Amino acid sequence: MDKKRLLTGDRPTGKLHLGHYVGSIANRVRLQDQYDCFFIIADLHMLTTKNAREDIDAIRTNAVEMVIDYLSCGIDPAKSTIYLQSAVRAVYEINLIFEMLVSVPRLSRLPSLKDMARAADLTEMPFGLLGYPVLQAADIITPRAHLVPVGKDNEAHVEITRELARRFNFLYGETLPVPDVMIGDVPTLVGTDGKGKMSKSLGNAILLSDDSRTVRKKVHGMYTDPKRISANIPGTIEGNPVFIYHEVFNPDKVEVEDLKNRYRRGEVGDVEVKDKLTIAINNFLDPIREKRAAIEADRGFPEQVLYEGTVAASQIADETAMMMKKAMGLTGVWNKISRKGRDRMKKLEQITK
Ligand code: TRP
Repeated sequence: MDKKRLLTGDRPTGKLHLGHYVGSIANRVRLQDQYDCFFIIADLHMLTTKNAREDIDAIRTNAVEMVIDYLSCGIDPAKSTIYLQSAVRAVYEINLIFEMLVSVPRLSRLPSLKDMARAADLTEMPFGLLGYPVLQAADIITPRAHLVPVGKDNEAHVEITRELARRFNFLYGETLPVPDVMIGDVPTLVGTDGKGKMSKSLGNAILLSDDSRTVRKKVHGMYTDPKRISANIPGTIEGNPVFIYHEVFNPDKVEVEDLKNRYRRGEVGDVEVKDKLTIAINNFLDPIREKRAAIEADRGFPEQVLYEGTVAASQIADETAMMMKKAMGLTGVWNKISRKGRDRMKKLEQITK
C-alpha cells in the first residue's frame, strides 16, 4: 500500500534555529520513514511581507542554506522531496481556486496575520497577506497531504486548510484529503532573551549552524532570573529560559534535577548552570555539524536536491490541479471551446490552401 503523505515547510528567511528543530524538524526526521514527505521552501509566503528586490535576490542563498540545514538534521532526499514553492506553477492555480472558498471575515479574525503585519511594520493589511493561510492550504493540497507537522503558530492555518478541503469536496465531490495537524513536542521555544519565541529577526536565536564558541557566548548571555544578583539568592525555575533549555536539550535528567534544586535554594551560580547547558546544546548540535561539513564539501549537492525535488513536486502539483479543475467542471468548459475553436481553424486552413 502507498504511504500517506506529509507536507510542511518554512519561509526562506535564512538559517534555521533550535526553535525550528524542536517545533517541527525533529518530527520531520522521525516521520520520514512512515510517510511520503514533502518539505516546501515557501518563498511566495515570504513575499506577503517582504517583496523588495533585495529580499527576492536573497532567496537563492537562503533556500540553499535551508536545504543544508534540513539535510544536516537528517532529512534524507532519497526518502523526502524538498522543493521551491515559486517554481511550482500549479500552486498559483490551486491558490486561486481556494480563494473563492473562504470569506474575508474568516481570514481577518486570525491573530497570526495581524501579528505578521505588525512585525513587518505594515500599517495596512495587504491582500496577499490576508491570503497567507489560503496559499498555505494550496501548498498542503499540492501533494494531497494527509499530515502537516507545524508549530503552534501555524495550527490555525491548517484548520483553514481543512475547511477549504471540506468545502471543495462539498461543492465539487470528494476529491481532496482533509489533512490532520501535528504540533511539535515543544510548541514554541522561548528565545535566549526570555521575551518571546525564538526568532532570527529578534536576535534571540541559537542557530543550528552556530559553532561551539558561538553557542557558549549566546548561552552565557541568556536571560535568567533577574532577582539573582548573586549565587546564594534562591532563584525561580518556572519560565526561566535557561532551565527551559535544560529540560529540552539536556538528556541528563539527574543533572538537571540537581541544578534545579540547588538553584531554588540559592546554592549554584549561573555560570555553572550555563556551562552545563552549553555542553548539552553543543552535544546536541555535534552530529548535525558533522553532517553539515560533509554536505558542504559536496558542491552543488543541495542545489541538485532542490532541483530534483521541485521537478517531482511540480508533477504531482499538476496532477492535483487537474483533478480539482476536472471536479469543478472547468476542464470541460475549456475542452469544448478549444475543440470547436480548433476545428474551425482547421476548416479555414483547408479552404485557404
Ligand atoms: N507558514 C509557515 C511558516 O510559518 C511556512 C509554510 C508555508 C508552511 N507553507 C506551508 C508550513 C505549508 C506548513 C505547510 O513559515
